[in-house]
Parts: sequence; structure tokens; C-alpha cells
Amino acid sequence: MTATESAGSTTGTGAPAASDRNSLSVGSNGPIVLHDVHFLEQMAHFNRERVPERSPHAKGSGAFGVLKVTEDVSQYTKAAVFQKGTDTDLLVRFSTVAGEQGSPDTWRDVRGYAMKFYTSEGNYDIVGNNTPVFFLRDPIKFPHFIRSQKRLPDSGLRSAQMQWDFWTLNPESAHQVTYLMGRRGLPRTWRHMNGYGSHTYLWVNAGGEKFWVKYHFHTHQGVEFLTNDEAAALAGTDADFHRRDLFDAIARGDHPSWRLSVQVMPYAEAADYRFNPFDLTKVWPHADYPLIPVGIYTLNRNPENFFAQIEQAAFSPGNTVPGTGLSPDKMLLGRAFAYADAQRNRIGTNFHQLPVNQPREGVPVNTYLFDGQMTYHHSGAAAVYAPNSIGRPWADATGPAEDGWEADGELLRAAYALHTEDDDFGQAGTLVRNVWDDAQRDAAVAQVTGALATVTGEVLDRALQYWRNIDAELGARIEKAVRQGR
Ligand code: HEM
Repeated sequence: MTATESAGSTTGTGAPAASDRNSLSVGSNGPIVLHDVHFLEQMAHFNRERVPERSPHAKGSGAFGVLKVTEDVSQYTKAAVFQKGTDTDLLVRFSTVAGEQGSPDTWRDVRGYAMKFYTSEGNYDIVGNNTPVFFLRDPIKFPHFIRSQKRLPDSGLRSAQMQWDFWTLNPESAHQVTYLMGRRGLPRTWRHMNGYGSHTYLWVNAGGEKFWVKYHFHTHQGVEFLTNDEAAALAGTDADFHRRDLFDAIARGDHPSWRLSVQVMPYAEAADYRFNPFDLTKVWPHADYPLIPVGIYTLNRNPENFFAQIEQAAFSPGNTVPGTGLSPDKMLLGRAFAYADAQRNRIGTNFHQLPVNQPREGVPVNTYLFDGQMTYHHSGAAAVYAPNSIGRPWADATGPAEDGWEADGELLRAAYALHTEDDDFGQAGTLVRNVWDDAQRDAAVAQVTGALATVTGEVLDRALQYWRNIDAELGARIEKAVRQGR
């Protein structure tokens, strides 16, 4: 019997509920009473319906699908998920970074691209963006960065002055800011954008040989963008434009798909590659490390319940599986802590027990994570400690970590040692001069000029110098346009 055809609804504990339309009162005009348990349960639960929104990446949505591996990359990784012929269920969540839950999908921003692969060896997450680089290279700056992109402490307003102040005081942001001021800052839909793991990750093959990899997800729908005018109009008329587009496309059977490729760097080449390969503000030019195809993934199933399956979804770059690993990228190592900690706070201690975050059925879970709020899965009377002599297995690897690397040296606080071509502005300039065409450069002049419209004083001077450092000619054009407008 479904809820609509049943005799009525129930309380949370399954007993018939008396009424969802009339609370219990003393006479029809009299006061309502405290022992109307069903009414009180409704009121109290309503007060607890929300969990804190993600900080950052609060606004987003996603869908389920499948990765089909079509190529043999076993020479680089033994991970079951990446073996030829393997199909793996997955969840993807797309998002904006700075806006809150109700913010428009079409505000200019980087887009989050979070993926969870439900593999036969446990869940593997790739939590990237629609750009191959990021604003920073040291994780201690991250909370400051996010606060600078959100809202002023007094007025609660967003502030271009604050954004540009942060960016220009942290010039390693130049490459990502250039992407952001270009077309990728306004993707037409989530279906029409590429995704990137962004960081350098580790792959390990069956022989124990290690490789550095970067993940790329190229859209089969074609890369398309919005103009500023289109985005502004949509922000007013349909703030959920991207969320709606994905849901509607999947609902009508128009299943979007992407090609997964990797760039692979032999382990030893990292030491003196011309760019520090663990610096998240840098790409590896494809001429140095070409794309190697791996497979195709398709999104084919909408969530049945947004809150349970999207809002409570918990992604973390720390979730790796055998044959994959992290890298010495300090940002990635910082993230390996941050996400699960955010989720323990945001969703609850046992967030990993929720169906959307659990590994697929048949994948054994034998965790010593014990008790805590909302414990659902449990280990019965099995030992709660390891080692134990009553038969419950525990992990016991010793020696070099299979997914590790060498590191030694004095404990200190310092920037990465520079490789031969490392600097803050070089690759951003290459993007402007060698990747963009004239129309994109023209659009960027207009875009940056607009973005600087309310920026003043020393921050404006620094911002103009920042763009001259990226590209002298583009910078001069921006300066002229900015000065003309004042
Ligand atoms: C040290 C740097 C970073 C820190 C500390 C950090 C921290 C966080 C935190 C705490 C969340 C919210 C997680 C949750 O509540 O479930 C989040 C979300 C997210 N972050 Fe980061 N982040 C960092 C850098 C990055 C980078 C470099 C990328 C992309 C390359 C990225 C992509 C994302 C995405 C896509 C989400 C949304 C995940 C989802 O859809 O649930 N973050 N980040």
C-alpha cells in the first residue's frame, strides 16, 4: 500500500498518525495540548531538517552513472576500477564554489566536479573542478581564500575589493584567475564542461611500479559557455538553471557522457621536470605528457531524493583504493584531512554509513570506527580493539607504503623549491597568448574591466600590475579600459 492510498501516515516509529491536518485541541477553538505527540514530532523534526551547508561548494547537484573502461592501462595501475572491461557505478556532484545553497547557478565561478566511484575495492573519490589548476599551492591559505570570496563581515555583502585584495596578495592565483575570467568561468551547463582531477595523483601497477597521473574528463556534449548577459538574465529568471538542465536531460533519457583520459608521468621524472609537477597552479603541457584514453562515463540516473543522496553525499580526495594514491602536493595532503572532518561536522560522525556513502553491496567493510551518533551498521559482539585474540582481523602493513614516496629534510615553513620554469605568471600568460584567440582576449578585457569596476586604491593598482604580469599587452588594454571608465 503506498502512502497516498493507505489509511493515513504514521509517526516516525510506525504507529498510525491521527491527523496531519488538525492538531489536538481543547474544543475547536481552545488551546492545543502538549501530549499531541504526532504534532510535536512534526514540529521538532522540522526544526532539524537542515544540515549545515558545505563551506565551500554549497550550491550544486548531481546524478548517478557508470564508468566503462575501454582501454588497457594496467601497465600504470592495478586499481580494479581502471581495468579494461570493468564497469563501475558512480556519483557525480557539480557545484559552484563561493555561493550559498540558494545562490544562482550562473554566477561566474569555478565549478566543482566531485566524483565517487563505487569500486569493488571500496570507494574511490576524485574531487576536482572544471579547471586543471587552482588558486593556491599551500593549504594553510585555503580558509582565507574562501572567506575572501564569500561575504564581508559587516554588511554580509560580496566584495570585489576583498576578492582582488586576496588574489593580488597571492599572485600564485594568476593562472586560475585567468581561467576564471575566461569562458570557463561561465559554463553553459554542467553537461557542457570538462572536469579535471587537477592535482597530481599516484598510480601503482601490479609490479609495484609508480607513476604520477592527472585525470581529465572531456565532455562529449561539446564545450559551451554563457555570455555575461545570458548568465545575468538566468541568475534572475532561473537560479537553478544548471541543476534543472542536468535533471531534465537525464529524465528525458538524454544521458550525458565524458571521456576519461590521463596524463602519465614516470615516477622519476618528477624530480627535474621543468615545472614542479606537484604545484597545483601548473598544468603539464600535453606536448610533454599526452592524453592517454581510459574509458567513458555516462550519467544515467537522477537522485530519488536530493537531500539523502546529494546533500548528504560525502566526497574526499583522501578516499583512495589500491593502485591509486595521493602525491606530495601540499594542497592534496591538506585536503586529505579536511573533507572527512567537514563531513563529521556537517552530516554527523557516522556519515560514511549512509547508503550514498557506503561501498557497494558485497564489498566487505571491517572498520574499527566504533559507536557515535546515529550508528546503524555495527560489528555485533566482535572485538572492538586490535590486535585481538578472538578472531577479528586487523590491518598490519609494515615497511614502505605501497602508495608512498620518499621525503626527508629539516622541518621548516617554506614555499616549494622552484623548478627551472616555475613562476607565478608564466602559464597564465601562455593561456592568454597561445590558447585564447582574439575574441577570447577581447572578452577577457571586458570581463576583467567589469570585475574591477568597484575596486579602488592600492588593490586596484595591484590588480592592474597583476594583469600586466600575466600579459603586458592584455594588462595595458585592461588598464586603459579601467582608467577610461573612472
Ligand atoms: C587545501 C585546499 C582545500 C580545502 C581545505 C578544501 C576543503 C573543502 C571542504 C571542507 C569542502 C566541503 C566538503 C563537505 O562538506 O562535504 C570542500 C568541497 C569541495 N572542494 Fe575543496 N578544498 C580545498 C581545495 C580544493 C581543490 C583544489 C579542489 C579542486 C581541484 C576542490 C574541490 C572541491 C569540490 C568539488 C567540493 C564539493 C564536493 C561535493 O560536491 O560535495 N577543493 N572543499
